[in-house]
Amino acid sequence: MSPAPVKVAVTGAAGQICYSLLFRIASGELLGPDQPVELRLLEITPALKALEGVVMELDDCAYTTLAGVEIGDDANKVFDGVNLAMLVGARPRSKGMERSDLLEANGAIFTAQGKALNDHAADDVKVLVTGNPANTNALIAKSNAPDIPATRFNALTRLDHNRAKAQLAAKAGVAVSEVTNVTIWGNHSATQYPDAFNARIGGKPAAELINDQAWIENDFLPTVQKRGAAIIEARGASSAASAANATLEHMRTWVGGTADGDWASMAVPTDGSYGIAEGVISSYPCTVKDGEYSIVQDLELNDFSRAKIDASVAELREEQEAVTSLGLI
Ligand code: NAD
Ligand code: LMR
Repeated sequence: MSPAPVKVAVTGAAGQICYSLLFRIASGELLGPDQPVELRLLEITPALKALEGVVMELDDCAYTTLAGVEIGDDANKVFDGVNLAMLVGARPRSKGMERSDLLEANGAIFTAQGKALNDHAADDVKVLVTGNPANTNALIAKSNAPDIPATRFNALTRLDHNRAKAQLAAKAGVAVSEVTNVTIWGNHSATQYPDAFNARIGGKPAAELINDQAWIENDFLPTVQKRGAAIIEARGASSAASAANATLEHMRTWVGGTADGDWASMAVPTDGSYGIAEGVISSYPCTVKDGEYSIVQDLELNDFSRAKIDASVAELREEQEAVTSLGLI
Protein backbone atom coordinates (compact mmCIF):
# COMPACT_ATOMS: atom_id res chain seq x y z
CA MET A 1 0.00 0.00 0.00
CA SER A 2 1.42 3.42 -0.85
CA PRO A 3 1.80 6.03 1.90
CA ALA A 4 -0.73 8.85 2.35
CA PRO A 5 -0.14 11.74 -0.08
CA VAL A 6 2.00 14.65 1.06
CA LYS A 7 0.10 17.89 0.47
CA VAL A 8 2.27 20.38 -1.39
CA ALA A 9 1.05 23.96 -1.78
CA VAL A 10 2.49 26.07 -4.58
CA THR A 11 1.57 29.71 -5.16
CA GLY A 12 1.85 31.64 -8.41
CA ALA A 13 0.91 28.36 -10.02
CA ALA A 14 0.02 29.81 -13.43
CA GLY A 15 3.32 31.70 -13.68
CA GLN A 16 6.59 31.00 -15.45
CA ILE A 17 8.49 29.24 -12.67
CA CYS A 18 5.57 26.97 -11.88
CA TYR A 19 5.20 25.91 -15.50
CA SER A 20 8.40 23.97 -14.86
CA LEU A 21 8.16 23.35 -11.10
CA LEU A 22 4.72 21.73 -10.92
CA PHE A 23 5.55 19.03 -13.43
CA ARG A 24 8.73 18.11 -11.63
CA ILE A 25 6.98 17.87 -8.25
CA ALA A 26 4.14 15.83 -9.76
CA SER A 27 6.55 13.43 -11.48
CA GLY A 28 8.10 12.38 -8.16
CA GLU A 29 11.32 14.40 -8.39
CA LEU A 30 10.65 16.13 -5.06
CA LEU A 31 9.72 13.23 -2.78
CA GLY A 32 10.64 10.15 -4.78
CA PRO A 33 8.82 7.61 -6.95
CA ASP A 34 7.01 5.90 -4.05
CA GLN A 35 5.53 8.96 -2.37
CA PRO A 36 2.22 10.26 -3.78
CA VAL A 37 1.76 14.05 -3.73
CA GLU A 38 -1.36 16.15 -3.72
CA LEU A 39 -0.88 19.57 -5.30
CA ARG A 40 -2.66 22.59 -3.80
CA LEU A 41 -2.31 25.45 -6.25
CA LEU A 42 -2.96 29.08 -5.36
CA GLU A 43 -3.44 31.89 -7.88
CA ILE A 44 -5.12 35.26 -8.06
CA THR A 45 -8.64 35.15 -9.50
CA PRO A 46 -7.80 36.43 -13.02
CA ALA A 47 -5.17 33.71 -13.45
CA LEU A 48 -7.41 30.79 -12.47
CA LYS A 49 -8.47 30.13 -16.07
CA ALA A 50 -4.86 29.82 -17.20
CA LEU A 51 -4.22 27.59 -14.20
CA GLU A 52 -7.03 25.29 -15.32
CA GLY A 53 -5.06 24.81 -18.53
CA VAL A 54 -1.94 23.90 -16.56
CA VAL A 55 -3.97 21.35 -14.59
CA MET A 56 -5.21 19.82 -17.85
CA GLU A 57 -1.58 19.38 -18.85
CA LEU A 58 -0.74 17.82 -15.48
CA ASP A 59 -3.61 15.36 -16.04
CA ASP A 60 -2.27 14.61 -19.50
CA CYS A 61 1.09 13.55 -18.06
CA ALA A 62 -0.66 10.70 -16.18
CA TYR A 63 1.97 10.81 -13.44
CA THR A 64 1.63 7.83 -11.11
CA THR A 65 2.84 9.92 -8.16
CA LEU A 66 0.19 12.63 -8.57
CA ALA A 67 -2.66 11.76 -6.20
CA GLY A 68 -4.75 14.90 -6.81
CA VAL A 69 -4.77 18.59 -7.67
CA GLU A 70 -6.86 21.34 -6.10
CA ILE A 71 -6.77 24.93 -7.27
CA GLY A 72 -8.16 28.14 -5.84
CA ASP A 73 -7.75 31.83 -5.06
CA ASP A 74 -8.40 31.56 -1.30
CA ALA A 75 -5.22 30.84 0.67
CA ASN A 76 -7.27 29.71 3.68
CA LYS A 77 -8.71 26.83 1.66
CA VAL A 78 -5.71 26.01 -0.51
CA PHE A 79 -3.32 25.84 2.50
CA ASP A 80 -5.62 23.59 4.54
CA GLY A 81 -3.51 20.73 5.94
CA VAL A 82 -0.49 21.39 3.72
CA ASN A 83 2.84 19.82 4.69
CA LEU A 84 5.07 21.74 2.28
CA ALA A 85 4.45 25.25 0.95
CA MET A 86 6.42 26.78 -1.89
CA LEU A 87 5.59 30.47 -2.10
CA VAL A 88 6.54 31.44 -5.63
CA GLY A 89 3.69 33.80 -6.52
CA ALA A 90 4.85 37.41 -6.66
CA ARG A 91 5.67 39.94 -9.31
CA PRO A 92 9.12 39.58 -10.93
CA ARG A 93 11.32 42.64 -11.47
CA SER A 94 11.88 44.00 -14.95
CA LYS A 95 14.97 45.52 -16.54
CA GLY A 96 16.61 48.24 -14.44
CA MET A 97 14.91 47.28 -11.15
CA GLU A 98 16.58 45.82 -8.05
CA ARG A 99 14.71 43.01 -6.29
CA SER A 100 14.15 45.26 -3.26
CA ASP A 101 12.10 47.58 -5.50
CA LEU A 102 9.44 44.86 -5.26
CA LEU A 103 9.07 45.10 -1.48
CA GLU A 104 5.98 47.26 -1.47
CA ALA A 105 4.31 45.48 -4.42
CA ASN A 106 4.91 41.97 -3.13
CA GLY A 107 5.19 42.34 0.65
CA ALA A 108 1.45 42.35 1.29
CA ILE A 109 1.06 38.97 -0.41
CA PHE A 110 3.17 37.40 2.32
CA THR A 111 1.26 38.87 5.29
CA ALA A 112 -1.95 37.23 4.07
CA GLN A 113 -0.24 33.96 3.17
CA GLY A 114 1.66 33.84 6.48
CA LYS A 115 -1.63 34.22 8.37
CA ALA A 116 -3.35 31.57 6.24
CA LEU A 117 -0.50 29.11 6.82
CA ASN A 118 -0.58 29.86 10.54
CA ASP A 119 -4.28 29.05 10.71
CA HIS A 120 -4.58 26.14 8.30
CA ALA A 121 -1.30 24.35 7.48
CA ALA A 122 -0.35 20.97 8.98
CA ASP A 123 1.73 20.99 12.17
CA ASP A 124 4.83 19.84 10.29
CA VAL A 125 4.64 22.51 7.56
CA LYS A 126 7.85 23.72 5.90
CA VAL A 127 7.60 27.02 4.03
CA LEU A 128 10.02 28.06 1.28
CA VAL A 129 9.80 31.53 -0.26
CA THR A 130 10.98 32.03 -3.84
CA GLY A 131 9.00 35.20 -4.72
CA ASN A 132 11.21 38.29 -4.51
CA PRO A 133 12.60 39.90 -2.47
CA ALA A 134 12.69 36.36 -1.13
CA ASN A 135 14.50 36.82 2.22
CA THR A 136 12.33 39.67 3.40
CA ASN A 137 9.13 38.14 2.05
CA ALA A 138 9.97 35.05 4.12
CA LEU A 139 10.49 37.32 7.14
CA ILE A 140 7.03 38.83 6.53
CA ALA A 141 5.40 35.38 6.24
CA LYS A 142 7.18 34.18 9.40
CA SER A 143 6.21 37.27 11.37
CA ASN A 144 2.56 36.73 10.46
CA ALA A 145 2.60 33.08 11.55
CA PRO A 146 3.39 33.17 15.28
CA ASP A 147 2.21 29.59 15.89
CA ILE A 148 4.60 28.03 13.36
CA PRO A 149 8.21 27.60 14.56
CA ALA A 150 10.43 30.27 12.98
CA THR A 151 12.82 27.61 11.67
CA ARG A 152 10.10 26.39 9.28
CA PHE A 153 10.51 29.53 7.16
CA ASN A 154 13.28 29.51 4.57
CA ALA A 155 14.04 31.66 1.53
CA LEU A 156 15.66 30.53 -1.68
CA THR A 157 19.37 31.11 -2.36
CA ARG A 158 19.91 27.70 -3.93
CA LEU A 159 19.82 29.26 -7.39
CA ASP A 160 22.73 31.52 -6.43
CA HIS A 161 24.45 28.47 -4.89
CA ASN A 162 24.10 26.55 -8.16
CA ARG A 163 25.27 29.56 -10.16
CA ALA A 164 28.39 29.81 -7.98
CA LYS A 165 29.04 26.09 -8.33
CA ALA A 166 28.80 26.28 -12.13
CA GLN A 167 31.18 29.27 -12.29
CA LEU A 168 33.78 27.60 -10.06
CA ALA A 169 33.60 24.36 -12.07
CA ALA A 170 34.04 26.25 -15.36
CA LYS A 171 37.02 28.24 -14.02
CA ALA A 172 38.75 25.12 -12.69
CA GLY A 173 37.86 23.08 -15.79
CA VAL A 174 36.22 20.33 -13.74
CA ALA A 175 32.78 18.73 -13.62
CA VAL A 176 30.26 20.45 -11.32
CA SER A 177 30.19 17.27 -9.24
CA GLU A 178 33.77 18.10 -8.12
CA VAL A 179 32.62 21.38 -6.54
CA THR A 180 31.28 21.07 -2.98
CA ASN A 181 30.78 23.17 0.15
CA VAL A 182 29.62 26.23 -1.75
CA THR A 183 28.05 28.94 0.40
CA ILE A 184 25.97 31.96 -0.43
CA TRP A 185 25.91 34.32 2.55
CA GLY A 186 23.35 37.09 3.11
CA ASN A 187 20.61 38.34 0.85
CA HIS A 188 19.32 37.03 -2.50
CA SER A 189 20.34 40.33 -4.06
CA ALA A 190 23.33 41.97 -5.71
CA THR A 191 25.01 42.20 -2.26
CA GLN A 192 25.00 38.42 -1.69
CA TYR A 193 28.40 36.92 -0.96
CA PRO A 194 29.33 33.71 -2.81
CA ASP A 195 32.19 32.26 -0.76
CA ALA A 196 35.05 30.78 -2.81
CA PHE A 197 37.25 30.38 0.28
CA ASN A 198 35.24 27.71 2.07
CA ALA A 199 34.14 26.05 -1.19
CA ARG A 200 36.05 22.94 -2.28
CA ILE A 201 37.06 21.55 -5.63
CA GLY A 202 37.98 17.88 -5.62
CA GLY A 203 38.16 18.20 -1.82
CA LYS A 204 40.71 21.09 -1.87
CA PRO A 205 39.95 24.74 -0.99
CA ALA A 206 38.59 26.29 -4.20
CA ALA A 207 40.29 29.69 -3.78
CA GLU A 208 43.72 28.04 -3.29
CA LEU A 209 43.23 25.79 -6.28
CA ILE A 210 42.06 28.64 -8.51
CA ASN A 211 44.74 30.92 -7.06
CA ASP A 212 43.42 34.06 -8.71
CA GLN A 213 42.09 36.62 -6.21
CA ALA A 214 41.44 39.13 -9.02
CA TRP A 215 39.14 36.62 -10.74
CA ILE A 216 37.30 35.97 -7.47
CA GLU A 217 36.77 39.67 -6.79
CA ASN A 218 36.22 41.04 -10.28
CA ASP A 219 34.66 38.15 -12.14
CA PHE A 220 33.24 35.42 -9.93
CA LEU A 221 31.49 37.67 -7.41
CA PRO A 222 29.80 40.06 -9.84
CA THR A 223 28.85 37.25 -12.23
CA VAL A 224 26.98 35.39 -9.50
CA GLN A 225 25.60 38.52 -7.86
CA LYS A 226 24.24 39.93 -11.11
CA ARG A 227 23.25 36.71 -12.86
CA GLY A 228 19.52 37.32 -12.34
CA ALA A 229 19.80 40.71 -14.07
CA ALA A 230 21.89 39.22 -16.90
CA ILE A 231 19.17 36.66 -17.55
CA ILE A 232 16.46 39.34 -17.55
CA GLU A 233 18.57 41.33 -20.03
CA ALA A 234 19.09 38.33 -22.32
CA ARG A 235 15.73 36.56 -22.02
CA GLY A 236 13.49 39.56 -21.49
CA ALA A 237 12.04 37.71 -18.47
CA SER A 238 13.45 36.51 -15.19
CA SER A 239 14.95 33.06 -14.74
CA ALA A 240 12.26 30.41 -14.64
CA ALA A 241 13.47 26.84 -15.28
CA SER A 242 16.63 27.33 -13.20
CA ALA A 243 14.59 28.98 -10.43
CA ALA A 244 12.15 26.05 -10.49
CA ASN A 245 15.08 23.64 -10.32
CA ALA A 246 16.56 25.46 -7.33
CA THR A 247 13.19 25.62 -5.55
CA LEU A 248 12.78 21.88 -6.01
CA GLU A 249 16.35 21.15 -4.88
CA HIS A 250 16.05 23.33 -1.76
CA MET A 251 12.86 21.58 -0.64
CA ARG A 252 14.22 18.15 -1.52
CA THR A 253 17.33 18.86 0.59
CA TRP A 254 15.22 20.20 3.47
CA VAL A 255 13.10 17.04 3.49
CA GLY A 256 15.72 14.48 2.51
CA GLY A 257 19.01 15.83 3.90
CA THR A 258 22.43 16.94 2.68
CA ALA A 259 25.15 14.61 1.39
CA ASP A 260 27.86 13.59 3.88
CA GLY A 261 30.63 16.18 4.00
CA ASP A 262 28.71 18.74 1.95
CA TRP A 263 26.22 21.48 2.78
CA ALA A 264 23.67 23.66 0.98
CA SER A 265 23.01 27.39 1.01
CA MET A 266 19.69 28.09 2.71
CA ALA A 267 18.31 31.44 3.81
CA VAL A 268 17.10 30.86 7.38
CA PRO A 269 16.15 33.01 10.38
CA THR A 270 19.32 34.41 11.93
CA ASP A 271 20.22 33.10 15.39
CA GLY A 272 23.47 34.90 16.21
CA SER A 273 25.68 32.48 14.23
CA TYR A 274 28.69 34.26 12.70
CA GLY A 275 27.80 37.36 14.71
CA ILE A 276 24.59 37.97 12.76
CA ALA A 277 21.97 38.95 15.33
CA GLU A 278 18.41 37.63 15.21
CA GLY A 279 15.73 39.43 13.22
CA VAL A 280 16.35 38.76 9.52
CA ILE A 281 16.48 35.79 7.17
CA SER A 282 20.00 35.35 5.85
CA SER A 283 21.64 32.73 3.69
CA TYR A 284 24.08 30.40 5.46
CA PRO A 285 25.79 27.08 4.87
CA CYS A 286 23.40 24.48 6.28
CA THR A 287 23.36 20.74 6.75
CA VAL A 288 20.04 18.90 7.00
CA LYS A 289 19.23 15.73 8.91
CA ASP A 290 15.81 14.24 9.63
CA GLY A 291 14.07 17.23 8.09
CA GLU A 292 15.81 19.80 10.34
CA TYR A 293 18.53 22.15 9.15
CA SER A 294 21.56 23.25 11.19
CA ILE A 295 23.79 26.19 10.37
CA VAL A 296 27.36 24.95 9.84
CA GLN A 297 29.49 26.47 12.62
CA ASP A 298 33.11 27.59 12.94
CA LEU A 299 33.99 28.21 9.31
CA GLU A 300 36.89 30.60 8.91
CA LEU A 301 36.03 33.98 7.42
CA ASN A 302 38.84 36.20 6.20
CA ASP A 303 38.53 40.00 6.37
CA PHE A 304 37.38 40.18 2.74
CA SER A 305 34.56 37.67 3.38
CA ARG A 306 33.57 39.29 6.67
CA ALA A 307 33.16 42.73 5.08
CA LYS A 308 31.06 41.35 2.22
CA ILE A 309 28.79 39.38 4.58
CA ASP A 310 28.34 42.41 6.84
CA ALA A 311 27.31 44.55 3.84
CA SER A 312 24.68 42.05 2.73
CA VAL A 313 23.29 41.66 6.26
CA ALA A 314 23.14 45.47 6.56
CA GLU A 315 20.96 45.48 3.44
CA LEU A 316 18.69 42.84 5.00
CA ARG A 317 18.31 45.04 8.08
CA GLU A 318 17.35 48.00 5.86
CA GLU A 319 14.69 45.83 4.19
CA GLN A 320 13.50 44.74 7.63
CA GLU A 321 13.13 48.41 8.64
CA ALA A 322 11.29 49.19 5.40
CA VAL A 323 8.70 46.43 5.89
CA THR A 324 8.35 47.38 9.56
CA SER A 325 7.49 50.93 8.54
CA LEU A 326 5.05 49.59 5.93
CA GLY A 327 3.31 47.74 8.78
CA LEU A 328 3.95 44.34 7.20
CA ILE A 329 5.68 42.80 10.24
P1 NAD B 1 5.31 35.22 -13.13
O1 NAD B 1 4.85 36.64 -13.21
O2 NAD B 1 5.45 34.42 -14.38
O3 NAD B 1 4.34 34.42 -12.16
C1 NAD B 1 3.97 34.89 -10.93
C2 NAD B 1 2.57 34.36 -10.67
O4 NAD B 1 2.20 34.72 -9.34
C3 NAD B 1 1.50 34.97 -11.60
O5 NAD B 1 0.80 33.93 -12.26
C4 NAD B 1 0.60 35.76 -10.65
O6 NAD B 1 -0.76 35.74 -11.04
C5 NAD B 1 0.83 35.00 -9.35
N1 NAD B 1 0.49 35.73 -8.15
C6 NAD B 1 0.58 37.07 -7.91
N2 NAD B 1 0.08 37.37 -6.70
C7 NAD B 1 -0.32 36.20 -6.14
C8 NAD B 1 -0.93 35.87 -4.91
N3 NAD B 1 -1.24 36.79 -4.01
N4 NAD B 1 -1.21 34.57 -4.68
C9 NAD B 1 -0.93 33.63 -5.59
N5 NAD B 1 -0.38 33.88 -6.79
C10 NAD B 1 -0.07 35.15 -7.06
O7 NAD B 1 6.67 35.23 -12.29
P2 NAD B 1 7.76 34.06 -12.15
O8 NAD B 1 8.77 34.23 -13.23
O9 NAD B 1 7.09 32.76 -11.96
O10 NAD B 1 8.48 34.55 -10.80
C11 NAD B 1 7.79 34.51 -9.55
C12 NAD B 1 8.61 35.20 -8.47
O11 NAD B 1 9.80 34.46 -8.23
C13 NAD B 1 9.06 36.62 -8.82
O12 NAD B 1 8.94 37.44 -7.66
C14 NAD B 1 10.52 36.45 -9.19
O13 NAD B 1 11.26 37.63 -9.02
C15 NAD B 1 10.91 35.38 -8.19
N6 NAD B 1 12.14 34.65 -8.49
C16 NAD B 1 12.93 34.33 -7.43
C17 NAD B 1 14.10 33.62 -7.62
C18 NAD B 1 15.00 33.27 -6.47
O14 NAD B 1 16.09 32.72 -6.70
N7 NAD B 1 14.63 33.53 -5.21
C19 NAD B 1 14.46 33.22 -8.91
C20 NAD B 1 13.63 33.56 -9.98
C21 NAD B 1 12.46 34.29 -9.74
C1 LMR C 1 17.07 35.50 -10.18
O1 LMR C 1 18.01 35.53 -9.38
O2 LMR C 1 17.20 35.05 -11.34
C2 LMR C 1 15.71 35.97 -9.72
O3 LMR C 1 15.75 36.42 -8.41
C3 LMR C 1 15.09 36.94 -10.65
C4 LMR C 1 15.71 38.30 -10.52
O4 LMR C 1 14.97 39.28 -10.37
O5 LMR C 1 16.94 38.42 -10.60
